[in-house]
Amino acid sequence: MKYNLSEITELIKNRRTIYPKFYSSRKVHKEIIEHLIRNATWAPTHGNTQPWRFKVYRENSRIQLSEQLGELYKKLTPKNLYKEEKLNKIVGRPLLSSVAIIVCMKRGDNEKIPEIEEVEAVACAIQNMCLTATAYGLGSFWSSPKIMYSQEMNSYLNLRTQDKCLGILYLGYTTMDWPKGQRKPIEYLTDWND
Ligand SMILES: Cc1cc2nc3c(=O)[nH]c(=O)nc-3n(C[C@H](O)[C@H](O)[C@H](O)COP(=O)(O)O)c2cc1C
Repeated sequence: MKYNLSEITELIKNRRTIYPKFYSSRKVHKEIIEHLIRNATWAPTHGNTQPWRFKVYRENSRIQLSEQLGELYKKLTPKNLYKEEKLNKIVGRPLLSSVAIIVCMKRGDNEKIPEIEEVEAVACAIQNMCLTATAYGLGSFWSSPKIMYSQEMNSYLNLRTQDKCLGILYLGYTTMDWPKGQRKPIEYLTDWND
């Protein structure tokens, strides 16, 4: 065996969504964030288009992000769906996290590569980040509020219409017990063809 498979399997199984309300005030060092982003870029990418882009918010920039997300939620949410509780979550999360990384897909020029494959590549990159975060003992939360897919969000992030924001990855150390996950056994999910 080339790698320690039991450790890799443990790492994959232990990656858990941990919400910012459970993060401590301990800061995530820049070197760790760089490591996450570097590992993200080793995700598979059809045609090697490398469509991932990262916008990192630390320190005071988290306040601007929080304000902007709040403004967009207020502006774009239809009255019947608007909830003060949701607004508080959206505004609070960047402030409760040591770092927030907005992960975007920059659509390449090669039209032979379908858009969905550019999105898939970035999703794989995000998983690489979450796994690396887990290895560092960091909680991560891939957040995707509806406003994220809006043209207004694209403008805020200086993205073009053909680009997409895929999520806000919140990161932080946690003092809570590491949560356990649950998954269906593969027998329910797999058709074997021999
Ligand atoms: C594309 C994507 C978007 C997600 N967006 C949200 C979100 O907006 N809010 C949320 O609570 N969880 C979100 N999640 C996290 C899931 O809720 C979480 O992965 C799921 O509950 C399983 O828990 P686990 O990550 O601990 O295995 C998202 C996950 C993915 C893959």
